[in-house]
Order: sequence, then C-alpha cells, then structure tokens
Amino acid sequence: MAAPLSNMKFWKPGAEAPGISEERELNTETTGSPIIFNPHTTLSIEKQRQKLPVFKHRNNILFLLESFQTVIIVGETGCGKTTQIPQYLLEAGWAADGKVIGVTQPRRVAAITVANRVAEERGALLGHEVGYTIRFDDRSDLHSTRIKFLTDGMLVREMMADPLLRKYSVLMLDEAHERTLYTDIALGLLKKIQKKRPEMRLIVASATLDAEKFHDFFNQNESGDPAKDTCGILTVEGRTFPVDVFYTVSPVPDYVKATVETVMKIHETEEDGDVLAFLTGQEEVEKVVSLLQDEARSLARYGMKKHLRILPMYSGLPYAEQMKVFERAPSSVRKVVVATNIAETSITINGIVFVIDCAFVKLRAYNPSTAIESLLVTPISKASASQRAGRAGRNRPGKCFRLYTEEDFEKLPSSTVPEMQRSNLAPVILQLKALGIDNVLRFSFLSPPPAQTMVQALELLYALGGLDHYGRLTEPMGVRMAEFPLSPMFTKMLLESGNFGCSKEIVTIAATMQIQNIFVVPSNQKKQAREHRKFAVAEGDHLTMLNVYEAFLKHQKSSQWCQEHFLNYKGLLRAVMVREQLRRLMNKFKVPRNSSEGDPDVILKCIVSGFFANAARIHHSGSYRVVFSEIVQTSKYYMRDVTAVESSWLVELAPHFYKEAKVGHLLLSCSSAAPQLLLSCCEPAPPSPQLFSFSLSPSAQFPGQQEISSPVRVC
Ligand code: CDP
Ligand code: MG
Repeated sequence: MAAPLSNMKFWKPGAEAPGISEERELNTETTGSPIIFNPHTTLSIEKQRQKLPVFKHRNNILFLLESFQTVIIVGETGCGKTTQIPQYLLEAGWAADGKVIGVTQPRRVAAITVANRVAEERGALLGHEVGYTIRFDDRSDLHSTRIKFLTDGMLVREMMADPLLRKYSVLMLDEAHERTLYTDIALGLLKKIQKKRPEMRLIVASATLDAEKFHDFFNQNESGDPAKDTCGILTVEGRTFPVDVFYTVSPVPDYVKATVETVMKIHETEEDGDVLAFLTGQEEVEKVVSLLQDEARSLARYGMKKHLRILPMYSGLPYAEQMKVFERAPSSVRKVVVATNIAETSITINGIVFVIDCAFVKLRAYNPSTAIESLLVTPISKASASQRAGRAGRNRPGKCFRLYTEEDFEKLPSSTVPEMQRSNLAPVILQLKALGIDNVLRFSFLSPPPAQTMVQALELLYALGGLDHYGRLTEPMGVRMAEFPLSPMFTKMLLESGNFGCSKEIVTIAATMQIQNIFVVPSNQKKQAREHRKFAVAEGDHLTMLNVYEAFLKHQKSSQWCQEHFLNYKGLLRAVMVREQLRRLMNKFKVPRNSSEGDPDVILKCIVSGFFANAARIHHSGSYRVVFSEIVQTSKYYMRDVTAVESSWLVELAPHFYKEAKVGHLLLSCSSAAPQLLLSCCEPAPPSPQLFSFSLSPSAQFPGQQEISSPVRVC
C-alpha cells in the first residue's frame, strides 16, 4: 500500500479512549447561499415547490403571521424558506394595495440569486413583480415590485428615506442566525418600527435551533401569560441521522497535514461514503487538494480499486468547478470535498458520510485598542463544531473526525461572537445617528458591542470631521458620510478629492478598491502572472489600481486583454459601474471634477486625508510610512491596498490625530489607531525585519515588490 498509514489516533467519546463518555447533541444549523444545487430540476416548477419541506407548513406560517407580530422560522438550508415564504405571502394577499414584501439577505450575491430564482418560479421577468436592491445595483420597480430582495445594509439605508418603512407590509430578515452586523442593526431598528406600526409583520428566518434569543428580543408580552405573546416560533424539521464524533488523542501540530492523513486513513479503513474536510481558506484548500491528488495518483499506480476524486470548494472558485462537488460519484469512486467554512452552513452536499474538522475558521475581527479590523484565523465555537459534524448525517449515519482533543473542544466558546461585537462600528454609528438615534449607547442591541469599540468609533468619526464635540452629525460632512454608500474613510477621501484637485483619479481608486481581487493568479501560472508588474508602481497599490483601470479603458474593456494580463474582467466591469455611481453621488454633493494631471503626491495626500487612521511604519528607521485599507491575516499579517506616504503628511492632514514630537517620530494626539500599536498587534515577533517588511497586496505575489524602495514617479 502506497499511502502512508497515519499514526494519528482518534477516539470516540464513550468508546475505548480517555475522557468522559458523552454523546454530543448535534444541531442542524444551515443557511441559504448563492451556490445552490437542485436535485429536482427535471420536475415542473410546481412539483419542485411542493417537494420542499416548508410546503407542508404553508398554512401554518400564514396562520402564525395573522396571530403574531413577529414569527421566527427555523429550518435547514434548502428547505425552502427564502424562495417559498415570500411567495406564500404574496399568494395570500400580503402585497395587496401596492405593499411590498421585503426579504433581506446578508450577502449581495445571495440577494441576486434568490431574486432570479423566485422570478423564474413565477414565470416573471426579474425587476418587475420580483426584484432586488443591493448597493450600486437596483433591479426593482417602484410600482410593480411586490417581492423585493435586498441586503440588510440596504434596508437600513432605506430607513433614511422612509424611517417607518411604510411600503413594506412584511419584512423577512433571512439568515438571521449569521448575526451579521447589519442583520443585528436591522433587528434593533425593526423592533423600534414595530412599536409605531403594529400592523407590520416581521419574519426572522434562521437555520439554527437557538430561536429563543430572537423570541425574547421581540416578544413584547410582559404579562408572563404565553397566550399574550407577540412572537411565535415555527420549526421546519429536517431529517438527520446520528453522527459519531472522534477526537485526536493529542493536539495536532499541523492541521493541513493531519487533514490529508485523515482522508487517507478513512479511505483505507472506512466503508463507502464521501468525505468533507473543513479548512480556513482558499490557500489551505488548494494545498490539501494538491497533496491529496499526489496520494490519489500513487494509489492508482498501486492498483487500488477504489479511486479518490478530490474537489476543492471555496467562494472564489469558478461556478462550474463549484458545481462539481454536487455531482454524484460512481460507486467505484470516493468523493473528497475540501472546503472552507462555506460548507458549514451555506451549502448542503449530499452523500457526505465523513467529516474532518480542523477547528478553525477565518473571521473578521476588530481590535479596539489598535483600531485594526482584520480577517483572523480563529478557533470555531461549539455550535460550529456541531454544525460541521452534522454535515455527515444528512443521508445516513456518519462520522466526524475532529483534529483536536476533547479537552480543547471543551475550551471552545459555545457560540460564535456576533459581528456586532467584533467589528469597527464607525459606519453603524453614522447611520444610527442619521436615523435620529442620538444616544447610540442605549440602542436596543440584540448583543451590545463592547463600550471600548463604541468609544473608539466615535473618536474616529470625530477625527474624520463627521461628528462634532457633542457627538452630533456635522453638516455637511457627517450627514454626507451617512448617506454615502461607502465607509467613512472612503467617503472622506472622496468628498475631499475636489479640494486636492484629483477627484477624477480618486473616484477611480475608490471604485477599484470595492473589487475583491483585481488580479487573478491561477495557481499553475504564477510565473506568467508576474505580468502584473507591468502595472505595479512603487508608491503602492492605489496608484497600481489606477493604472490598471486606465489601461483597461484604453484597451476598450477587452476581456481578452484582461485574460492576457491576469486581470479580473468581471471585477473591472463592476469597477466601471461603481465608478459611475460614485461619480453621480459626487456631482450631487458638488465635488468639483478635476485631475492631478500626473502628479502622484496630490493623489496620495488625498488618500491620507481619508485613511490617516490606518497608518503603519514600514521601516524600522520610523521615517517611512504607509496607509492601508485593511489587514488580512493568513499565515502572516498582510495589509491590503497599501500606499507609501510621507510621515509629515499625517501631521499636516490629520493634525487632530497626529502631532510631530521629534524629527521622524510621530505621537498620537488621541488614543486610537497608533502606528506603534499596530506594530505591537503583529506579535508574537518582537521588532524584527520581518515585522517591518509587510507584504504588499496585491503586489505581494511578486518577490522584489515586497520591500518598498524610494518612490518612483508615475502616470
Ligand atoms: O432558504 P432555504 O435554504 O431554506 O431554501 P431556498 O433557498 O428557498 O431553496 C429551496 C430549494 O429551491 C433549494 O433546495 C433548491 O432545490 C431550489 N433552488 C434552486 O433550484 N435555485 C435557486 N437559485 C434557489 C433555490
Ligand atoms: Mg435561505
């Protein structure tokens, strides 16, 4: 046998090994997502709809909605919550008299996909009876749209124009269990609206069973008599089978390697059934896939009868590749899906019998003492671990191999900290203030954020000129910041750009920064992808992106040209659209149109005027600095969208934030966002060359671009 027999030991609670014998209860937490697999595509739409588990509850849902102001609906992914419930409401007359049924989604793509699906089910053209509204893209009609999907952030924006959301008869807050920042904000605001509009109905759709928290939040019955409850719960049962859980006997030093070994061990020793392995990001997924492919090849060489089919799954994977994970493998093949957290709640893959759980997930985290928001690899919660395990028991009893000890499992937090408690709150505070909620500290939060984060956000908004001494929105800056669909730092940069004389360039830069990955680096063509360097400039990513955008236009937005230069064609097209909308907003706010005519310093200074709080020292002499848009952690910390700036600019452009102490050294004049603190957040390394040579992204792929040399003129 060629495959290395793993020496990793698992034990199952209640079986032969150490620890207590306790069977864990598994819940069935799931969500909807843009990646949808429909096993019934051969049936008519009518039959497909009737086959969904939620169909049996149709009348019950309608009845509950007559009786309660708020209804919590719990049901696993794919049971039909998102696509069916709004249609039941429409059919029952909830959208009569020009009223609209609104359904919120945490993600933009999900809003588009479900709107398309529901329009298709109704035989309607998207944008009429069924539409969607997301940032920078509105496919709904003021008069004819009856079911409208929108992001929860968009709903909060709509409240600015229509504080009581009068056009909606029912609002369904979907995927509420995800507890995203804007879902939580929308929940708090809707609770307020309900008091003024008792006839408005609210549905909170969740894929986890812990509906009690939502129930307690919305139930306005203080009498203690359940007959007077204003909130009801309905559970759409999903079928699940028992899953045996195994732990490692000792901690695993390298979960990537351990995942590979465990897959091979399952393949050699376990009965038929597909495998699903959880990792934290694309990079890890690709690494495991490649290692497993090597193993699979050597198995084939040694004539092992049963083959392995290894498939990656992550959100950035091309659609056709994603769909492969749903294809059934022939009986002579064992399918192994190596996925990010996307497979925990957002998709359901049939046939999975074995799950491998590395115990980690990539989460957005915010450190109020450094004011740094970053993506961090963090241990999962017990709820997540149960959910991951549950993916093995959808079709028949399964097994879950946890790459951690039971002792470590016990140390995991019981549930994932909601985004509200781990995000930069500056944008949220702006919007709450704009909605007339002056005392944000007393807002009805489902989970109140840490006070330090609140104070920090208030400080930042004050430094940006969005709030005055009394914490009120300033006119016009604060009010405009709240209205602008970008975060306050971006807005400040855009609104100031006319004064700097570079609004044309800045609006392009802001638009390109809204695109996740402008550069595409196919793993097998890394070398060729060095082509990017053509656009890279030493000042940093912002001007690089400006160069890319301008070259894209010069080449008539050609997809062929993008492919040749490893650029994200669709992303750039989106940047063109976003730019146009930002331009319109800037016209509305009378920001003059002007250009720096090739002078990069003007542009860089304008960037600093918005992003001064995100400054870091890149050179140990302390004299050379950068500003960045965010920090991402993989194996190391990376800054995203980095640009070199002169330290004197920080003092010049943000005197209330920085003041000069000695030559080359800056001191902060308020407690937040210290460059020094940024460096200390990059522990465990003490000040060392590595600490100061942050990799630049996207230039990070190119050795030689990592260290910033002296500026070179561009444009
Ligand atoms: O919201 P939930 O996860 O409960 O389910 P849903 O999004 O309403 O989807 C119900 C079913 O509709 C899925 O299981 C798919 O079979 C089908 N569907 C589809 O074929 N295409 C879509 N874009 C969305 C759903
Ligand atoms: Mg859904």
